[in-house]
Amino acid sequence: MNVLITGGNRGLGFEFIKVFSETGNNVTTIIRSESAKKIIEEYFPKCTILLSDITNYTDLSKLDFFKNNSVDILINNAGKASYGVSVKDSESSEIEKQFKVHCLGAFNVTKVAYSSLARSKNPIIINISSRLGSMSRNAEGEFTGKGFSYGYRIGKGAQNMLTQCLSQELGVKGFKVCALHPGRLLTSSGATDAHMTPYESAKKVYNLIVKKQIENGGYYCVETGSMSW
Ligand SMILES: NC(=O)c1ccc[n+]([C@@H]2O[C@H](COP(=O)([O-])OP(=O)(O)OC[C@H]3O[C@@H](n4cnc5c(N)ncnc54)[C@H](OP(=O)(O)O)[C@@H]3O)[C@@H](O)[C@H]2O)c1
Repeated sequence: MNVLITGGNRGLGFEFIKVFSETGNNVTTIIRSESAKKIIEEYFPKCTILLSDITNYTDLSKLDFFKNNSVDILINNAGKASYGVSVKDSESSEIEKQFKVHCLGAFNVTKVAYSSLARSKNPIIINISSRLGSMSRNAEGEFTGKGFSYGYRIGKGAQNMLTQCLSQELGVKGFKVCALHPGRLLTSSGATDAHMTPYESAKKVYNLIVKKQIENGGYYCVETGSMSW
């Protein structure tokens, strides 16, 4: 399979490259710096590297890769942690950055990769979401007072709506588009209750794909299965 992963130089993205490479797939990653490029070249010499910030559509649209190549699986993984757990401590500029990376970044990459995905017989788009993007779980009060930021929850909530829009449009064309909470991971962006290695999470996501347990319009958690939106 041809797999495209955003943010592959560290954290979960790095482990996605490892898992998909060691299982014999062709992996391409979108990363945004020369230092990130050096890391990929050192650890994954066979990985194709595309350099762009995912929030910059102009730069993404200049990538020749998508003119002829096909992509079977797009994993919109790149993201960032945030701050500001109250109105007083939150800033609209930070909320805007979160919206840009989690929602518009995933949208931009999907848009530039669309024709490559359409060349695949079974295209899959996995948007790496979070339990914190779930409107229903937030409404039930599960995260109240637990120190989670406005920006991150709003960014992931917006990304979840993008996943819904894409699944409704592209599902009828044979795509499978889903949102996936990768678990509470021991990465630099992890929450205080993190417990799972990113490699373990990447392996679980890989298994969901190869066992065909991903449906169009689904919202999954690698720890507990299907989640409510
Ligand atoms: N960690 C957790 O427990 C957890 C839980 C739920 C969901 N998630 C989600 O899982 C995904 C991966 O998380 P992680 O913990 O592995 O994060 P991480 O260690 O902070 O890595 C984030 C990756 O995204 C890249 N990135 C950020 N902004 C970018 C941009 N504008 N353009 C291109 N690349 C960009 C980073 O590149 P640079 O090195 O250049 O910054 C880095 O490679 C994220 O979407 C996160 O929200 C994580």
